[in-house]
Amino acid sequence: MEFTGGETYQSNFDPKAYLATFCSFGTGRDGTLNFRLQKCLKTFSSGGIGGHTLIDIGTGPSIYQLFSACESFKQIIATDFTERNRQELERWLKKEPGAFDWSVAVKAVCELEGNREKPIEKEEKLRRTIKQVLRCDVTKSNPLDPVVLPAADCLITALCLETACRDLGVYQRAIKNITTLLKPGGHLVIIGVLGNTFYKVGQQTFSCLPLDEQSVINAVVDAGYSIKEIEVFPITYIASQAHIADSYAYFFLVAKKEVHT
Ligand SMILES: C[S@@+](CC[C@H](N)C(=O)[O-])C[C@H]1O[C@@H](n2cnc3c(N)ncnc32)[C@H](O)[C@@H]1O
Repeated sequence: MEFTGGETYQSNFDPKAYLATFCSFGTGRDGTLNFRLQKCLKTFSSGGIGGHTLIDIGTGPSIYQLFSACESFKQIIATDFTERNRQELERWLKKEPGAFDWSVAVKAVCELEGNREKPIEKEEKLRRTIKQVLRCDVTKSNPLDPVVLPAADCLITALCLETACRDLGVYQRAIKNITTLLKPGGHLVIIGVLGNTFYKVGQQTFSCLPLDEQSVINAVVDAGYSIKEIEVFPITYIASQAHIADSYAYFFLVAKKEVHT
């Protein structure tokens, strides 16, 4: 299908429909949501990756990727391309009426973490840790333009790059673009999908760049990283969800930005 970047996201990406379909338990996709939560926990839990600042690239209206990270970073900066997504996130941050109910996902994370804290405390901690919600375009050489931030200790990006990039060349450049926001020696965490050509949010179909594991690894290494870990999680429900998306697997990658002396 034709590439649906920029304006299609701005006008037709419905945050509530996205959250209901892709970020809710009980929709038939619990396995992949659990995979993402577990990997984030292992990556960011004590002794793992931490520091002062984490920037989430293409946060969208979603926060599942940040529940464990808020334990190991002093501040998180959320970003997204569309105003509606940023508004949806602000609604949750400000506890406004109609904000998405993350309680089931937060409870799942707290259980994975051994119930050290109550879900309500975890949500509050994440609210306190997200200090800014900024506009972002991964296709720009400074994705946060006109904002210039001190380099971060860690970047995370979940299911954003393959939706924002029309081909592999743009994907490779987008990784280089976001890398300018990261300190040498800092970490990049990518959550993505493999083989996906489209996904459906409400009535709107969005294009997706079908990736394979080796292309992702090559793009990350070419951007100046060493790969610390990549895990591929096959999707078992492909047929039943074929009307919503056509990926065959999720992946979770952790890489370290090389320090050039
Ligand atoms: C599939 S959603 C993923 C949202 C969230 N990170 C998650 O894991 O559920 C893709 C996100 O990428 C954002 N996006 C699309 N084009 C972008 C661009 N050029 N730069 C940054 N973000 C973009 C969209 O606005 C949307 O929020």
